Amino acid sequence: MTEKSAADHLRVLIIFAHPSYETSRINRALCEAVKDLPGVTLHDLYQTYPEQLIDVPSEQALLEDCDVLILQHPLYWYSCPALMKNWIDSVLALGWAYGQDNQGKRGDALKGKSFVQVISSGGSEDVYQRGGHNNFTLAELLRPFEQTADLCDMLYRQPFLTQDLRNLDAAGINAKVEGYVQWMHDLLRGELPPLINSHHAPQADYAQQHTAKLN
Ligand SMILES: Cc1cc2nc3c(=O)[nH]c(=O)nc-3n(C[C@H](O)[C@H](O)[C@H](O)COP(=O)(O)O)c2cc1C
Repeated sequence: MTEKSAADHLRVLIIFAHPSYETSRINRALCEAVKDLPGVTLHDLYQTYPEQLIDVPSEQALLEDCDVLILQHPLYWYSCPALMKNWIDSVLALGWAYGQDNQGKRGDALKGKSFVQVISSGGSEDVYQRGGHNNFTLAELLRPFEQTADLCDMLYRQPFLTQDLRNLDAAGINAKVEGYVQWMHDLLRGELPPLINSHHAPQADYAQQHTAKLN
């Protein structure tokens, strides 16, 4: 865990991406419920960058100022919406977030900070199982994010998920929002979600035949 701020709570930065906020049921409700909590900064990428031109130094300054980075988004094609991917590609730069640049500058700006995803999916937990409709668990599908955090020396923690959106009625949304507010209060107090280290789990390998064809 990184240091608490002078106000004795962690500084939580929510990088939020939803291409159609006005039609959102769950993400909008989650944002509204926590955006004014002390210690929380909500940064809406589609609102800030309608032209999708990301101001990298300003984004990096926001990141430097947080203890916990939350990426919040609906699941789009088993990943994040395009502007969030653009944000990752541009902001997590070589020599700042990871590695070493040509001038020898080391990329350690995010070292030790926590990385948590807040994700909604149309599909239920059941369809995200081996043998289920989507063949893979969400934890498997989210590994590119987990590895991104790892490369930046960040601490990847268990995501906050809302699944099966089609079958979630108004009462279900309210219950989820209540749970999220509690989860956020815990986070701000420094009670962080469990660390995830999938690379310690058994390896899921490609079939020999396929790998041979690539060589
Ligand atoms: C372009 C697009 C791609 C989507 N891809 C997925 C997906 O891969 N898996 C899934 O479970 N749901 C998928 N969905 C459903 C959204 O994740 C779901 O509608 C969203 O999480 C609901 O959140 P909201 O109420 O904030 O809009 C997709 C929706 C759209 C529009």
